[in-house]
Amino acid sequence: MARINDHFLKLQAGYLFPEIGRRVAAYAAEHPDEAKDIIRCGIGDVTEPLPQVAIEAMHRAVDDQARRETFHGYGPEQGYEWLREAIAEVSYKQRGVQVEADEIYVSDGAKCDTGNILDIFGHENAIAVPDPVYPVYVDTNVMNGNTGAARKDGSYEGLLYMPCTPGNNFVPEPPEQHADLVYLCFPNNPTGAVATREQLEKWVAYAREHKAILLYDGAYEAFITEPDIPTSIFALPGARECAIEFRSFSKQGGFTGTRCGYIVIPKELTAKDAAGHDVPVSRLWARRHTTKFNGASYIVQRGAAALFTPEGQVQTRALIDYYLTNAALLSEACRSAGLNVWGGKNAPYVWVQTPDGMGSWDFFDRMLREAHVVITPGAGFGAHGEGFFRISSFNSRENAEEVARRIGKL
Ligand code: MLT
Repeated sequence: MARINDHFLKLQAGYLFPEIGRRVAAYAAEHPDEAKDIIRCGIGDVTEPLPQVAIEAMHRAVDDQARRETFHGYGPEQGYEWLREAIAEVSYKQRGVQVEADEIYVSDGAKCDTGNILDIFGHENAIAVPDPVYPVYVDTNVMNGNTGAARKDGSYEGLLYMPCTPGNNFVPEPPEQHADLVYLCFPNNPTGAVATREQLEKWVAYAREHKAILLYDGAYEAFITEPDIPTSIFALPGARECAIEFRSFSKQGGFTGTRCGYIVIPKELTAKDAAGHDVPVSRLWARRHTTKFNGASYIVQRGAAALFTPEGQVQTRALIDYYLTNAALLSEACRSAGLNVWGGKNAPYVWVQTPDGMGSWDFFDRMLREAHVVITPGAGFGAHGEGFFRISSFNSRENAEEVARRIGKL
């Protein structure tokens, strides 16, 4: 008899964003006259067209596929060298960070990578996650059998939760307890918090002392506007021996629907096998990647590579600035309404305390019913997200301005 993976049964609810989508669809079905008025600031999905350089590069790549001489079949699983070289040069070396092209693995996005990375780690690891947190880190650990049962507040036995609160400005200190794998995400999803160099130094020191690995999600690094904030964990001395970095073109290049991301695993990074020997982590990831993945599409990789040309850099900056202006507008609207606000400065997400101690999902309902605006309830990101909500700035300027007006009227 076929058996399921019972760990899936521990998962508490559907994945957060489809759940929000379900609630919004139900409301729209009950109130068809209001449906067209609803503005979605829930999931962080981009709305603006791709940078023109990417469009043109992908058109050319489609034409390549039309001629035998320029046709591309299976590409290298790790990604085309011209893309990995461009990433290493522009995203790292030009910023004084040592990352080589052969340490980069191109994929179809950071969500898949942050979930798939667990394939190469054992089940004995002590795992630390921030709370609130991007749900993928927690749910994939549940699916992999790395946790116990769910608790009433939605957290899971067996994970070490690191509370992120106004008290620590939503940047957790390294814990007293030991952890082997630590998820960090800066600029943070959902709180929009960024970590200073000093804070990241403490994390690198913790990882080195505990022989832990930092799983560093830098999907939103392009939104960092303050020059002193590190854009990569590898900007910190000693991080090459204790970190993996996840990056994405989704938000930086508007690729949510085009799909491309990458992961950086330095050659120095090792972890122990059962006999206590050091094994290069990149060797395992390369093995996993070549077995389970056939490479991101040639056309998409051509589009991604175009973002690293000088023209592409200008167009990408303009796209990011567009969303950051939305974030500033939305933050200001919430502040003017007397709400406590974080994020929105070096990040596309604005993190807001609900008024009068309202529950996150209650406030979600209120925003939907009274303002016809979809936000993300903080509780969906973890127990410490209760009492907060997230507004995504990924929207047209017109919609962001309208949401700001509606917040003012609430
Ligand atoms: C979010 O809204 O948190 C993101 O869009 C989710 C993701 O990038 O997968």
